[in-house]
Formats: sequence, structure tokens, C-alpha cells
Amino acid sequence: MPTISTGPRAERADWSQLHLRVTLPTLTDDPAQEAGTTMPAPDYERRLIENIQPIRQFFLANVLHHALQLGVFRALADDPHTETAELAKRLDLDARRLGALLAYLQNENYVLDDGGWILTPRGQALPTFAPWYQMLVGGYGTTFQQLGHVLRPNAAYATRDTTQVGAGSCGIGVTDTLPLALHLLDAADTHPTTLVDLGCGDAGFLIEILNRRPGLKGIGVEPNPGSVERALELRRREGLTDRLQIVQATAADVAMLDLPDHGRGAAFMTAFVLQEMLEQDGERAVEDLLRATFDTYPDARWIVVEMDYQPNSPLLGAHGLGQAFYNPYFLIHNITEQRLETSAWWAELFRRANLTAATATTDPRVDSTGMEIGFLLARPLRRGRDEDLHAIRRWSSPSATSAQDSDQPLVRSGGSGPPGPARRPGHDNRPIGNEVCGQ
Ligand SMILES: C[S@@+](CC[C@H](N)C(=O)[O-])C[C@H]1O[C@@H](n2cnc3c(N)ncnc32)[C@H](O)[C@@H]1O
Repeated sequence: MPTISTGPRAERADWSQLHLRVTLPTLTDDPAQEAGTTMPAPDYERRLIENIQPIRQFFLANVLHHALQLGVFRALADDPHTETAELAKRLDLDARRLGALLAYLQNENYVLDDGGWILTPRGQALPTFAPWYQMLVGGYGTTFQQLGHVLRPNAAYATRDTTQVGAGSCGIGVTDTLPLALHLLDAADTHPTTLVDLGCGDAGFLIEILNRRPGLKGIGVEPNPGSVERALELRRREGLTDRLQIVQATAADVAMLDLPDHGRGAAFMTAFVLQEMLEQDGERAVEDLLRATFDTYPDARWIVVEMDYQPNSPLLGAHGLGQAFYNPYFLIHNITEQRLETSAWWAELFRRANLTAATATTDPRVDSTGMEIGFLLARPLRRGRDEDLHAIRRWSSPSATSAQDSDQPLVRSGGSGPPGPARRPGHDNRPIGNEVCGQ
């Protein structure tokens, strides 16, 4: 009995209500059948091949994901012409089964047995895109197996492998989100010294930022234990123990973090995380979190990255990335415990939280759909501050959004001079207990 239970509102799945309808194949739409003969139509095999291509891609995506994760591609790139037995030994795999996998990959033109296995040009090109497989196949493969069930009324959310989702998402982000996030970070006129990445996954993305900004310290906050474990390992491997803290907590726990220098110079980041909190805790909770954090750290900056939810955009059926990435991505977010919204919706929420929001989107050489949106949030200190932020838009046509409503109070209490020591809110001012930083 599968259990599908991921959140407060999730219920235990009851598969006894699931009525399977098995449709046996017929040739009834076949002219030959209608003519009373058992002969299939002359083009039957052609139509069969055409109609099962998605099955071929389904199997191929799974095989490629596992081969990438097991290190098959890396090992053959490092040591071409390796025999199956040697490769199996090196990767601690069963030689007979690995041989079957390699034969399969040879038929799909990823490897070639050339007196030992080598990568074809297609096989050499693939590893760059491993994170997409890790997130969509490793993370959400199990989700799609539940699709038929979760589409039923009142069904629970589908589950996913959150650790793989977090790691894959961070890997993808290094290509598309990193320039966007760095740009927004650099645009913050406060010169942040600490970046608090809420929902950091395996911290791979945060680590890339720290590697590119040597003066910056990082705090990665992540509730999923599997991701925290990976983050600690990555931190160790990258030699960043002195610059990166990892904390097991949710974004809502931000108030209890013990920020260096009482939070002066802090910037926060949520990349594809407010969408999680939105479905878990509701719109009001997201708004309250932003408001409370800026009440405590009025000079902070907050980078938000989200997808502009446009499931009916013509791009989804016509643009290559629309078809290969955004179309399944949008579906996934409707069946797991997450909620995507449009960028206009997010801008309105930020406005209600009394924040200015400058926007930017991805480099079109990487993703020309414009569907990934970055916001730089700030609390306005004086009238006109939002004008400073209008200029921030890197590659796309200028349409920076100021979410500031000019009728809102524009001067925070205490004036706009240098801040005093920041208050840490909450009833209990101690740092949260499950900090796992190694400092
Ligand atoms: C799609 S991944 C994004 C990872 C990373 N931020 C990135 O840019 O790729 C979403 C992450 O949010 C985490 N998450 C889920 N609910 C959360 C919450 N309430 N607070 C903080 N993180 C949360 C998940 O465990 C997962 O690691």
C-alpha cells in the first residue's frame, strides 16, 4: 500500500478507490479490420513505431539518469576504451547488467564498443545536462507514477524525492539562475556580506555564489535531512567550512537564525522556495515572513527567484524549452505540494508586504522564454527609492516592477540613518537548536 503524505493537508492514499480500466488493443479503427479481414493495414508498423516513441524516450531518460548518477559517463570520459568487467569493478556494479546497459546505450548512440567502451559525441555532450535528469527523472520520476491517482478528486499530493529535486535544481541553477542571482546581489546597494539561502537544497547553488564572491559568507537553511547531509559533504569538499553554515530549518525559522553582526549586511535568498511555502502555509504566511524579516532587518535585501506560471502560453507548445522543460515542470507543480504563480501575482504580494521589487530574467542564450524571474526586494527608505531599482534588468526588455505603493509609509520607524543593532524577533531569542554548522 503506497503512502502519499507530504504535508499537513495531505491524506493517506486510499488506492482501493482506484478503478483500473484495462483497454485491450484492437484494430477497430483499421480499414482492413472493418473490411472483415485479419490483415493489419499496410502502414500498421509505421504507426506503431510513431505512437510508441514516447515510451522509448521514457526508458531512455531513466537509463541516462541512472548511468549519469552511477558515474558511467564520467568514468568513460576519464578512461576511454575501458572493458565492461573493468568498468563494473571500478564503479562497483554487476558486470552482466552493466554490459546490458552499455549495449542499450550503444543502440541509442551514446557509447560505442571500440575495443573497450568509449563515449560517442552524443555521450560526451550529455553530462553537462545531468542536473535536468537529476531533478526531473530522479526527483519527479516517482511523482509521475502517481499521476493517475492524484488526479482524482480530493487525492493527496504526489510524493517526490526531495533530495534529488534539491540537488538537481541547484545544478540547473548554476547555468540559468546564477548569473541572475549574482546580478541582483551586485545590484543591492548595501554590499551584502552574508547571504542567507532559505531552502538551499544541497547548497550547490549557494556554494557557486560563494566561490564567485570571495568576500561573502553564506548560511544555507534547508529542512530536508537528505539535502542537509549532501550540503555538509559538498561544503567539506569545497573547503568552505569557515565561510558556510548549514542549518536544518524551514524558511519560516529565519527569525531564529543567529546572523553575524546582528544581521547588518545580510541578504536573503529564496530560489524556487516561496512556491513551496505558499502551498504549505498559504499566501498570508509568505507575506508575513517577508514583512517580519524586513521589520527586523530593514536594510536587508532579498533575492527571490520563481517561475512565471504561464501554462497557456503558446511558448509551451512551440518553444523547445517550453516543450522539454516548462510543460512538464508546470504539471509537476500542480500535483505536488507546491504552487506556482505569475510574476504579476508575486509583484502584488511584494507590494502588499510594502517592498520594492526590481526584476530581472535569464540570459536568453540559456533560456529565451523569459519564464524564470528574479526579484530584488527591499524596504523603501524614502520616496523615490524604487526609482533606483528600476534600472535593474539585465537582458530582457526593461519592465522592472516597483511593488511599492506610494501611499504606504515610506520611512521606517527610527529614521533612515544607520541602523542600530538589529532586534531578533520571536519569543525566544536563542539560535534555533538544530544548527549543524561546523564552526
Ligand atoms: C526546488 S528546490 C530549490 C533548491 C535551491 N533553492 C535552488 O535554487 O535550486 C526547493 C527546496 O526547498 C526546500 N523547502 C521545501 N519547503 C521549504 C520550506 N518551508 N522552507 C525552506 N525550504 C523549503 C526543499 O526541501 C528543497 O530543497
